[in-house]
Amino acid sequence: MKGLLLAGGHGTRLRPLTFRGNKHMLPIANRPLLFYGLDHLKEAGVREVAIILGPIKEGIEDQIGDGADFGLHVTYITQGEPKGLAHAVLCAREFLGEEDFLMYLGDNLLEHGAAPYLERFAQGDASAVVGAVPVKEPRHYGVVEMAPDGNILSIEEKPASPKSNLALIGVYLFTPEIHRIIAELKPSKRGELEITDAIWALHKATGRVRAIRLEGWWKDTGQPTDLIEANERVLASRPKSFFAVQGEIDPQANVSGHIALGAGSVIAAGATIRGPVVLGRKVRVESGAYIGPYTSIGDGSVIRRAEIDHSILMENVTVDIPGRIVDSIIGRGSQISERTHHPKGHSFILGDSTQVVL
Ligand code: G1P
Repeated sequence: MKGLLLAGGHGTRLRPLTFRGNKHMLPIANRPLLFYGLDHLKEAGVREVAIILGPIKEGIEDQIGDGADFGLHVTYITQGEPKGLAHAVLCAREFLGEEDFLMYLGDNLLEHGAAPYLERFAQGDASAVVGAVPVKEPRHYGVVEMAPDGNILSIEEKPASPKSNLALIGVYLFTPEIHRIIAELKPSKRGELEITDAIWALHKATGRVRAIRLEGWWKDTGQPTDLIEANERVLASRPKSFFAVQGEIDPQANVSGHIALGAGSVIAAGATIRGPVVLGRKVRVESGAYIGPYTSIGDGSVIRRAEIDHSILMENVTVDIPGRIVDSIIGRGSQISERTHHPKGHSFILGDSTQVVL
């Protein structure tokens, strides 16, 4: 089985975080989002993976290379302008050949990865396996309507009036039959070759598309709040081995719960950390500062006086204020400090499309 990991897409809803880089490289528990997809493909027994790149590809090839660090053989295919998920499959036609493949949208995170798909596929009666979970706002997703016996009644992409509350997860298992369908596919109203249209056409042609309802959590990281939630879910479910302490914790620091601390980091006397948290390398948490659960802090960051909870701080962030920061994402190299001179007030230097909630 081959793997297709999609990392195109502009990530416009994640601006300003995506002005500079690819959204799939944003950190969740201090690891790029895309790494989790690679882990899941590996766990599913895939060895050959093609990563589909869009126009913003910064950092992906540099950090993943030939995939050896992940136990995979990774190649790259440029989709150029994203023209739909089925178009990505078309771009990978030669790489995929006549093998079955797992397609994984790089902005999706699943608690149990692709294992349930493989189990269903092993029953031997499927031309494709798709996964679904109930959601509150199905109109933002592909929507599957299922009969009580599990038979698929309809599949639609972002319908205005959804026929069920079951969202299609961005992980799909296909046999090569899908290529014949995609070759005939017409662009949708929004001008894209939709994978949902291809799946529905395949089901009509073969009656062999199988939908499974997934247990465990699933996150499509389309918006900033999704990243914060994904960070929480991932920190809550990382294995104990992830929470290794390589840096230094002063005996007078108050540390409880699981914490991962990178080499060269220091938690000073009088600092308080309540896990699960991950702190990268060369991080300094100074006396009086507090880091609360579900927080990730990138390499080289310094936290002085502040309390930080349920947040993602990227690399080289300095926070030095006597206040509390919650539910936040702070980009690389940012500084939050206290203004001590007149005129008093908040002072900002913010990039485009920034959000400030005081
Ligand atoms: C894509 C698919 C959609 C699916 C979703 C899952 O949408 O088109 O069917 O439900 O991924 O993440 P996108 O998030 O790219 O708009």
